[in-house]
Amino acid sequence: MADLNPAVSRETEADPPPWFDLHLFVCTNRRPDGHRRGSCAARGSEALRDYMKARAKEMGLGRVRVNSAGCLDRCEFGPVLVIYPEGVWYRAETREDIDEILAVHVRDKGRVRRLMLTEKDVPPGKG
Ligand code: FES
Repeated sequence: MADLNPAVSRETEADPPPWFDLHLFVCTNRRPDGHRRGSCAARGSEALRDYMKARAKEMGLGRVRVNSAGCLDRCEFGPVLVIYPEGVWYRAETREDIDEILAVHVRDKGRVRRLMLTEKDVPPGKG
């Protein structure tokens, strides 16, 4: 894997090497039906997480970990996921979106601009 963006590195010489190169946190928070913010699980994120885990393994992506996350506080844009250490956020609604994120972002170290959340994607009342 290529070097990660040094601008986001917080490493010190005392740190052990990273156990994983990338963490993909997929929000699987579920709220009751009708909640004003909705939730990622209600929009299908659990199945997308399962698919992402399986595909990452099939693709042999190496030291990459797909994890479930609780609410990431950008519910209105869900289903959302965030990739660290880059801190890049995506809205992924389909298996095809997941395939593209894994291929372009994780494998090829690019970005899937059409699915990225930006600093302009601020939940109501959070700006
Ligand atoms: S429910 Fe997914 S970000 Fe809040």
